Amino acid sequence: MISINLRPGIPPLKRIEDKTKIDIRYSLIAPYANAHIFWDKKEGEIVYEVEEPKINEEDRKILQKIEEAMVGLMNLNVAVDNTMQSMIEYIDKTAKLVIDELDIKISEEIYEKIFYFLYRDFIGMNEIDPLLKDYFIEDIECNGIDTPVYVVHRVYRNMRTNIIFKDIDKLASFVEKLAQRSGKYISYANPLLDGSLPDGSRVNATYTKDVTSRGPTFTIRKFTKIPWTPTQLIALNTLSPEMLAYFWILMEYKANVLITGGTSSGKTTLLNAMTFFIPPEARVISIEDTRELNLPRENWLPAVARASVGVGKVGEVDLFDLLKNSFRQNPDYVIVGEVRGKEAYVLFQGMASGHPSISTLHADSLDTVIRRLQTPPINLSPTLVNSLDCIAVMAHALIKKKHTRRLREIIEVVNVDKSGSTLINTPFIWDPSHDVFYFKKQSRVFEKISARYGISIPEIEAEFLRRAKLLFNLYKGKIFAFEDMRKIINAYYKNPKNVLEKYGVS
Ligand SMILES: Nc1ncnc2c1ncn2[C@@H]1O[C@H](COP(=O)(O)OP(=O)(O)OP(=O)(O)O)[C@@H](O)[C@H]1O
Ligand SMILES: [Mg+2]
Repeated sequence: MISINLRPGIPPLKRIEDKTKIDIRYSLIAPYANAHIFWDKKEGEIVYEVEEPKINEEDRKILQKIEEAMVGLMNLNVAVDNTMQSMIEYIDKTAKLVIDELDIKISEEIYEKIFYFLYRDFIGMNEIDPLLKDYFIEDIECNGIDTPVYVVHRVYRNMRTNIIFKDIDKLASFVEKLAQRSGKYISYANPLLDGSLPDGSRVNATYTKDVTSRGPTFTIRKFTKIPWTPTQLIALNTLSPEMLAYFWILMEYKANVLITGGTSSGKTTLLNAMTFFIPPEARVISIEDTRELNLPRENWLPAVARASVGVGKVGEVDLFDLLKNSFRQNPDYVIVGEVRGKEAYVLFQGMASGHPSISTLHADSLDTVIRRLQTPPINLSPTLVNSLDCIAVMAHALIKKKHTRRLREIIEVVNVDKSGSTLINTPFIWDPSHDVFYFKKQSRVFEKISARYGISIPEIEAEFLRRAKLLFNLYKGKIFAFEDMRKIINAYYKNPKNVLEKYGVS
């Protein structure tokens, strides 16, 4: 079995005053690709070298032969919406098939090196894939052929790399790949690309054959926004560990949650933090107008709506289309960045037919939420509103003269009757005068979960308390990092006892 680690971890890099002393190496794609940053004496500047497996001319030809044969065979569309692991296995399987078919004799050692390049060129982004994997890189810039690709590094700033495109056709086809991966189209007639890659990075590119120029160019501004984690939100006192534990139970048992609040009240931030609690094996599809979400998981298909260019609606893909399409892919969770119009109908229908969702909606109060859902352009029937389990209300708050955010209340929708009047239950509430959160009432959603999954209420409540304690201890232990939180919650799903023990919850 081939093993490849696309997230070998973030090394603790130090700032070094004397640039001539810089000589640092860290892994980007383990065990194959490293970054080597060092002072180039000859040129008198620091350089960024991507180190990849070295293969000789003969093996390079074999690689080329395998790649050519594979192009015809592969159906990456099947694989692309799958997990990284399954794509890697797919490449491995197809490559071995081709090697067999072409009767190529290579050692296991050479095969592994060749496999890296197959991964890089088929699943990854070719030569620059290691750069995209580097947490520290903010920008990648290519100004044409025969000139080095430059990067901007968070710690060591501007550097030239050892990556140089030498062939204009190869660079052009790479730019086409960038366009394709961002769901766009680039051609000589339409030579400008402005899009975003599946990981959220922004891409700009030009496509030109003009002989006086150096050919196509591209710039990638990496998606560097790391969202706040659940423990960071505890630290900000945005909500209590109990509230988070409540969401954790809801995420595990596929409840439907709507986050509301005014402009920039922290809705999207809370939504992103909640996704940490979705079971790791669940298939998640997110749908947004502009890319904001960054989910702590591999099994995730992000989709972004596309506005039409030019006259009419040609080429437009809106939230409604994306959402309709997403249900065909049988997701375990659908996440909608912000619900505004007719897509709400599809979303609520999805919920009613057992496709759980989390979304945000701009509204200042519960009354406004219920009204907005039932009037144009959303226009839901009371029965559909009933499929919502809970509404989390975010609000701006001025605490000690500082502007901050609070989860003002968690409201459970008990029943919306035909006339549209709503019966609610409020398990959690924030008390502004003391800036504390109260667990006010028994949760009615826990009752639903109990009935649906055959787990007793005391059992659910005991689990809820354990998780609240765990989250509190993680916060006390200053475990805030995105990757750490992701790992701990995933580990909890596999073996809760171990995790509870490790973090002192008895
Ligand atoms: N819990 C929080 N504590 C403090 N500041 C926060 C919190 N959540 C978000 N913010 C700040 O508020 C800004 C807006 O956050 P966010 O995008 O989550 O809000 P929103 O309600 O989704 O906004 P919009 O109405 O634009 O959709 C962020 O840039 C962030 O700096
Ligand atoms: Mg938002």
